[in-house]
Amino acid sequence: MKMNDIANAGASSAPSEGWPSPASPGSSASAPSGGSERHEVRKRGGEVVLDVKNISLAFGGVKALTDISFDVREHEIRAIIGPNGAGKSSMLNCINGVYQPQQGSISFRGQTFRHMNSRQVAEMGIARTFQNLALFKGMSVLDNIMTGRNLKIRSNILLQALRIGPAEREEIRHREFVERIIDFLEIQAWRKTPVGQLPYGLQKRVDLGRALAMEPQVLLLDEPMAGMNVEEKQDMCRFILDVNDEFGTTVVLIEHDMGVVMDISDRVVVLDYGRKIGDGTPADVRNNEDVIRAYLGTSH
Ligand SMILES: Nc1ncnc2c1ncn2[C@@H]1O[C@H](COP(=O)(O)OP(=O)(O)OP(=O)(O)O)[C@@H](O)[C@H]1O
Ligand SMILES: [Mg+2]
Repeated sequence: MKMNDIANAGASSAPSEGWPSPASPGSSASAPSGGSERHEVRKRGGEVVLDVKNISLAFGGVKALTDISFDVREHEIRAIIGPNGAGKSSMLNCINGVYQPQQGSISFRGQTFRHMNSRQVAEMGIARTFQNLALFKGMSVLDNIMTGRNLKIRSNILLQALRIGPAEREEIRHREFVERIIDFLEIQAWRKTPVGQLPYGLQKRVDLGRALAMEPQVLLLDEPMAGMNVEEKQDMCRFILDVNDEFGTTVVLIEHDMGVVMDISDRVVVLDYGRKIGDGTPADVRNNEDVIRAYLGTSH
């Protein structure tokens, strides 16, 4: 099934404001090895969607981030790389309102936000997945992905609890939307399975599904391929590329697998000990002496 179908379903049967229309319906997603070809067709130089300016974050004496600035442009796949403890997850946590940086600002489509909590950031259209999965292990795949629809549910809590009237109709529409995400992620066989019983690679896919259920404009992915075998990584790359191509969803991706980063990202930010040491295309970064010294020379 195509992601277009999900978008169409959203437009016709479920609230879908903020869900981008398909960017290039004819484009096809490819496995990582197709990366260079896709870079030629990718829209480049779009408007700045996220603007991170001079962010500093400390935990007591530990400086997690020092004066970090970078931007993320419409429709790109922007990677954040760096050794363990470099500050990558902290950066995503600042963007999505989990951490409040002591200095600096973050703007989304020109609007600077300060002291926003995760829910407010999500309502603006920024969704994320987590390095350490944040799924309800005892709940089914379907119900976990359904939690991503919570922001979109409008009926009041009492009607929802009683499942009557508009609340029931609304729930059916949201469930249909979630079923389409399940089809897209090719996890139909496990839709009723408690997430805790699934292998780790599939749990990562469910976490992506939960984020997709929010119909995000920007998707923040914290090591979506960690702990996966080669085949599972290829599948995850394909899903990320599909979402990016067919919805035009902007992606910010933390990833340790350099092959994946070089293949699917448009631009790369490199962090080391909380400082930015590189920023550019995968080729720029690969040839950056500081990056080679700090990151590419170390094993993960
Ligand atoms: N909640 C916290 N409290 C205290 N220190 C923290 C907290 N979160 C992060 N840190 C510290 O900030 C630094 C950056 O951590 P962060 O998790 O952002 O790194 P990372 O680049 O995501 O690393 P990894 O590749 O291992 O996931 C580390 O020194 C870490 O110990
Ligand atoms: Mg991390």
